[in-house]
Amino acid sequence: MTMLEIIGKKKYGQELTKEEIAFFAEAAAEKTVPDYQLAALLMAIRLNGMTDRETTDLTLAMRDSGDIADLSAIPGIKVDKHSTGGVGDTTTLVLAPLVAACGAPVAKMSGRGLGHTGGTLDKLESIPGLSVTLSVEDFVRQVKEIGVAVIGQTGRLAPADKTLYGLRDVTSTVDSLPLIVSSILSKKLAAGSDAIVLDVKTGSGAIMRTLEDSLKLAESMVRVGELAGKPIVALVSSMDQPLGTHVGNALEVKEAIDILAGRAGGDLLEVSLTLGGFMLHLAGRAETPEAGQQMMKQAIASGAGLEKMKQMIAAQGGDPSVCDDVTRLPRAKVIRPVSCGVSGWVTKMDTMALGMAAQAMGAGRLTMEDRLDYSVGYVLQVRIGDRVEPDTPLCVLHARSEADADRAEAAIRSAIIFGREHCGRAQNFHAVVTKDGVRRLGAGS
Ligand code: URA
Ligand code: CA
Repeated sequence: MTMLEIIGKKKYGQELTKEEIAFFAEAAAEKTVPDYQLAALLMAIRLNGMTDRETTDLTLAMRDSGDIADLSAIPGIKVDKHSTGGVGDTTTLVLAPLVAACGAPVAKMSGRGLGHTGGTLDKLESIPGLSVTLSVEDFVRQVKEIGVAVIGQTGRLAPADKTLYGLRDVTSTVDSLPLIVSSILSKKLAAGSDAIVLDVKTGSGAIMRTLEDSLKLAESMVRVGELAGKPIVALVSSMDQPLGTHVGNALEVKEAIDILAGRAGGDLLEVSLTLGGFMLHLAGRAETPEAGQQMMKQAIASGAGLEKMKQMIAAQGGDPSVCDDVTRLPRAKVIRPVSCGVSGWVTKMDTMALGMAAQAMGAGRLTMEDRLDYSVGYVLQVRIGDRVEPDTPLCVLHARSEADADRAEAAIRSAIIFGREHCGRAQNFHAVVTKDGVRRLGAGS
């Protein structure tokens, strides 16, 4: 078997065998064939697609290209959650302590931000002292002891994806359904959980812009999960505006703490409760996802969720007193309130541009090597559907300098469209996809 033969088959749209796919994944992990041949096959896959069987075989071969985390020492059903990325999306920091407080173990490996999207690890590292680098042994021990840990990928998980993702980024082959599915699921399956809740974003700040493409991605992930023997529930949720009101690392931690303390709510809380409800249901802790949501609400009311957050921060070497006093989080030099300056309705937001505004302030990276400023970002004070007047608060900027604040103010203003016509609120969820099919959710759900 040679790479040349495999590329030739896929070039004509033929189905690859399990052995051919395994050869490709192995070659990517071990770098035993030149990048140009890997890239040629990626483009052939991008153009001609893959069957569910091929996508499943690719996912499993990529999973098996490296280590697989062994979580069997943790009692109970381990449910992981993955979001395809967004702006102001702090659901992990809200739901991980809540789900753990409701009795389901949360052993979560998260990622860093890149481009316009934030990453959970960067947000966590804005807490003074906190480490996200744990050995697998310490990770498992922490989850056994307190029920929750959120860390960076340990060991060598799905190294084939590392090579292939790097090549996709520079060969215009990121937007391929089988390549996205195998990339995400190979890592999730290698992370060792028993079931997965996926949050597939759709809209201006998402990997898939249209609802139809996002649904196809969700359905494909659920089918491949089924074929791989891992139950997956995928929700399709909106990125038509940043999910939370806070954008920026320490600011997003603050919002998560405010929600856990019962002081804040909104769309971030709603989405966190919905995803967490499914996690508790899959973990066998709640009869229905709705019952799981009720349990999480009680964990907020009783303070159990915030207490779990403190335990997690302390276990990972961080300062848990930030949960009692959020002013102990990093604080920016320049804090500037900005008002809308116009009358009308908030009709549209360019979520990607809003993410890039925070990135330009120092909250995100342009390359993996960039250092972050945890303190910077902004708090958005309007949502789609809001009626505003010139003096209505638009946002509060947290910047390194007045000049940075000026640039961010201009970027945020141009990313938010005000209209003369009344505009309805945006809905958070569009669909729930399970092995039994797609359930579309109407406006307002
Ligand atoms: N995230 C990933 O990890 N892989 C993709 O292909 C897309 C998003
Ligand atoms: Ca993520």
